[in-house]
Amino acid sequence: MGYELAMRVWRGDADGGGLQDFTVDVEEGMVVLDAVHRLQASQANDLAVRWNCKAGKCGSCSAEVNGKPRLMCMTRLNTFEPGETVTITPLRTFPVVRDLVTDVTFNYEKAEEVPTFAPGKPTGDDGHHRMAQTDVDRVQEFRKCIECFMCQNVCHVIRDHEDKKQVFAGPRLMIRYAELEMHPLDTNDRRDLLRAEAGIGYCNITKCCTEVCPEHIKITDNGIIPLKERVVDATYDPIAAIGRRLRRG
Ligand code: SF4
Ligand code: F3S
Ligand code: FES
Repeated sequence: MGYELAMRVWRGDADGGGLQDFTVDVEEGMVVLDAVHRLQASQANDLAVRWNCKAGKCGSCSAEVNGKPRLMCMTRLNTFEPGETVTITPLRTFPVVRDLVTDVTFNYEKAEEVPTFAPGKPTGDDGHHRMAQTDVDRVQEFRKCIECFMCQNVCHVIRDHEDKKQVFAGPRLMIRYAELEMHPLDTNDRRDLLRAEAGIGYCNITKCCTEVCPEHIKITDNGIIPLKERVVDATYDPIAAIGRRLRRG
């Protein structure tokens, strides 16, 4: 059954903009991204919106819907009250390119600072690597990240303080560090980087990032807190520090 949906969509660019009201014909079963596409096709042909998979797996379509970060392709219209206006604005933490599209370069620049996976020599008698299943499961959780950047969008450290982007990489990047640091076959030591360049100390464990992750990654409990413990060990444990220096030669 079809009905009319009241939509309020932010339109503009880096120089400024504002909310515009629309009424769009939609059908039951549609998601917010469908409504945006319907709007684009019928009334706002030049509306800029980023999307790709329409299956919750590419992370492209994230935006703020009624004030909360959401994947537009995974947010059904029936989650709103009948007659409720659906307001869509771009992710606030990143600079607007146009309309609902933001420039997320920050995240990729921070990712470039993270040393890549560096496996050591195979430990198995047969010349193959061996990993315990618990270690596989631990890093597999972090590999589920689809880079929607909704966790980056809600983290107050970088959302409310533009200058903090210079010193804190944000929760998505903490998960990237966790994926590599907790990999038992990896030989790189990124703890100094985590403390200095990535600024892990700026996270005060508010857990807002964990609440919005569409992949249900326990960003804070399984990623950031264990990383903080490793950084403290490396920084303040004199024995660990000496061992680390010796290993580096
Ligand atoms: Fe998105 Fe979760 Fe990855 Fe953050 S950790 S970018 S919320 S999938
Ligand atoms: Fe930010 Fe998540 Fe820490 S929201 S402050 S990175 S717990
Ligand atoms: Fe890929 Fe929404 S379009 S996650």
